[in-house]
Amino acid sequence: MHTPNAAPIPELYVSYESAQKLKVEAGDLPSWDLTPRQTCDLELLMNGGFSPLKGFLTEQDYDSVVDTMRLSDGSLWPMPITLDVSEKFAETIEPGQDIALRDQEGVILATMTVTDKWVPNKTKEAEKVFGADDDAHPAVYYLHHQAGGVYLGGPVTGIQPPTHYDFKARRDTPNELRAFFRKMGWRKVVAFQTRNPLHRAHQELTFRAARESEANLLIHPVVGMTKPGDVDHFTRVRCYEAVLDKYPQSTTNMSLLNLAMRMAGPREALWHGLIRKNHGVTHFIVGRDHAGPGKNSQGEDFYGPYDAQELFKEHAEEMGIEMVPFKHMVFVQERAQYEPADEIEDGVTVLNISGTELRRRLQEGLEIPDWFSFPEVVAELRKTRPPRDEQGFTVFFTGLSGSGKSTIANALRVKLMEMGGRPVTLLDGDIVRKNLSSELGFSKEHRDLNIRRIGYVASEITKNGGIALCAPIAPYSATRRAVREEIEQYGAFVEVHVATSLEECERRDRKGLYKLAREGKIKEFTGISDPYDEPKDPELRIDTETIDVDNCAHQVVLKLESMGLIGTDR
Ligand code: PPS
Repeated sequence: MHTPNAAPIPELYVSYESAQKLKVEAGDLPSWDLTPRQTCDLELLMNGGFSPLKGFLTEQDYDSVVDTMRLSDGSLWPMPITLDVSEKFAETIEPGQDIALRDQEGVILATMTVTDKWVPNKTKEAEKVFGADDDAHPAVYYLHHQAGGVYLGGPVTGIQPPTHYDFKARRDTPNELRAFFRKMGWRKVVAFQTRNPLHRAHQELTFRAARESEANLLIHPVVGMTKPGDVDHFTRVRCYEAVLDKYPQSTTNMSLLNLAMRMAGPREALWHGLIRKNHGVTHFIVGRDHAGPGKNSQGEDFYGPYDAQELFKEHAEEMGIEMVPFKHMVFVQERAQYEPADEIEDGVTVLNISGTELRRRLQEGLEIPDWFSFPEVVAELRKTRPPRDEQGFTVFFTGLSGSGKSTIANALRVKLMEMGGRPVTLLDGDIVRKNLSSELGFSKEHRDLNIRRIGYVASEITKNGGIALCAPIAPYSATRRAVREEIEQYGAFVEVHVATSLEECERRDRKGLYKLAREGKIKEFTGISDPYDEPKDPELRIDTETIDVDNCAHQVVLKLESMGLIGTDR
């Protein structure tokens, strides 16, 4: 009988012997150090997860995928899988050349024969693939601010997969999963994609999906890269493991997928379907707002809630995978069970806790009821997300030279130390330039490096439960945003714009620098001969012209209190 998921899928790896030889030879090739996202992409290219791709897209395939969601040979492929590199590296490479692809520890994972090199139209890519050229979309932001300016394309020869040190036993290649399904005699498998912890509603939904399609269940969470701000995958996998024994063992499996998500909604749903198909799955659950990126810069959703389901439905047959549409499950109090929201009659009490409400309860240490989640899951989440007033955070002052950043930051430091409870570190502009960045000047590149260093130290402090007070000029909004993203993985980032006007800073001219800058004796001086991007949406803006330092610092204290970061006695 025909079993759609049984046959092995082609991989890009060479044999073990050839790999040993190739590895030595590849040592002499020009080499590219893969970014974390590229490492995820390469792993799925090599193990067949991205089949039929044989490497990073060529220019022709890229154009075709962007415009039509198809490779140039006509096969469906909705997501551009590209090797973006810096201009500097690209200058050293000519088409026809082989390059080595290394992981972040320098291990050669693959070689690639570069057939194409081109400068992509990123605006077009953003509009076509992600629906809008809007930096509020995480993948568009990545495209413009993190991805390199040049793309290289060409076939990949796999040497070895990236090494994972965590949850090894829970990771499977497409062929390993196919072999498992074969061994278990699982002809029908429905996969559940997730980047969130599983609560009772998800359990009910996956049960129903499996029952309705008379299929076995594969819980297939993404552990590569998800949306910035998500619960980290270590915590999530511990949560998944805690609920796994609530599923019937003989018909359920869990496997971790090292995918770097793009949050591209409808296109992403198709992509997820193809990837699951490659993993031997026959049915795929597509939810409301599948792989949605959140709100755009106008505060609206990027995609309609059912766009992903519609696009999937149109292509399901061609993909060879059936869609199981996700039903929004809510708890019906009278019957003490989860039911699909659209099947519930009027007059019963429906309970629901949104993701935002859950985060609020965790942050404030409030009760999370048993009907919503499992005690084991809540306990795991509480360990990683202690209440806000026990977490680390960063206050990031930005403003012109002489605006009063350091003075206010120092006053705040003393006030916070008086309160006690968490260690406080002041990363003042001048102090940092003396200790961390003594070799740097004031070019854009050096300023960015300086701010990234401050951001890195602040993120470590925040991660470890301390308070970091930063007070550099930080003139570029893109760099401030990058630092915010880095820190928000671990705790709050409070941007304080010390909004003293240029005229006032120049009038005060505490260090005499403005005079020198006007005379041209100091070059690239912020506000005079160098730019300052005013923060558009800081957590707090302080006017120092009418308020004294003590009061300015007190305003920050009030802000921290209102954000729940300080002040609650437990
Ligand atoms: S940046 O842009 O964030 O990296 O700057 P930062 O590290 O905060 O350093 C700013 C302090 O260096 C002095 N200084 C200059 N500032 C701006 N532009 C130029 N060209 C420059 N040259 C020296 C200045 O005293 C800044 O101190 P603050 O405390 O901000 O007044």
